[in-house]
Amino acid sequence: MNAKSDSISFRNPSTEDGAAIWRVVKESGVLDLNSAYMYMLLAREFSDTCVVAEHDNSVVGFVTGFRPPQRPDSVFLWQVGVDASMRGAGLGKRLLAAFLQSPGVRGATMLETTISPSNEASKALFTAIARELGTGIRQAEGFRSDQFPPEGDHEAEDWYFIGPFNPSAPTQLKP
Ligand SMILES: CC(C)(COP(=O)(O)OP(=O)(O)OC[C@H]1O[C@@H](n2cnc3c(N)ncnc32)[C@H](O)[C@@H]1OP(=O)(O)O)[C@@H](O)C(=O)NCCC(=O)NCCS
Repeated sequence: MNAKSDSISFRNPSTEDGAAIWRVVKESGVLDLNSAYMYMLLAREFSDTCVVAEHDNSVVGFVTGFRPPQRPDSVFLWQVGVDASMRGAGLGKRLLAAFLQSPGVRGATMLETTISPSNEASKALFTAIARELGTGIRQAEGFRSDQFPPEGDHEAEDWYFIGPFNPSAPTQLKP
């Protein structure tokens, strides 16, 4: 997968992108920062359900995801991040479009993710993508805050279902 418009290009990552994804997460100030190893592993072994956005040869945004083995019609989006300097200009929506058109996502009819109650930007992003896919968005219990280690003081993560949508609907979205 390789899509290009404006000066931003979208592609599936490789091992070499893992460190840059880790850096975007670290600098987001919002996302849970996992180990660099984890992002390298995802970029290598789950490349066809992950996307990076590049501008001037730098990674300025990314999506990580996977197909849940027990729900073959679904794709789970784990983390999405856009460099702070580029937020609010549509890049999040374009990343989701590229993600939904990735080789490993094709055929999915349900997009799942988790969002913390205070993350208004993320709720707005997934509400917008539901609208553009012509489908609904439904919230269910995900991980309660008391299920996280107490010393981390982690907010709850509500589970969101976006869909069902026609498996060809993502091809209408513009990365
Ligand atoms: C969430 C995030 C990826 C959105 O990326 P973005 O490029 O700013 O989003 P877009 O410009 O594509 O906007 C998508 C929609 O969300 C809305 N939106 C974006 N930021 C918003 C904010 N802070 N508050 C309310 N709405 C917001 C936009 O208006 C747009 O809606 P519309 O199509 O109805 O007009 C970005 O804010 C980010 O990286 N945040 C930090 C990491 C994070 O929280 N990730 C999500 C959890 S995994």
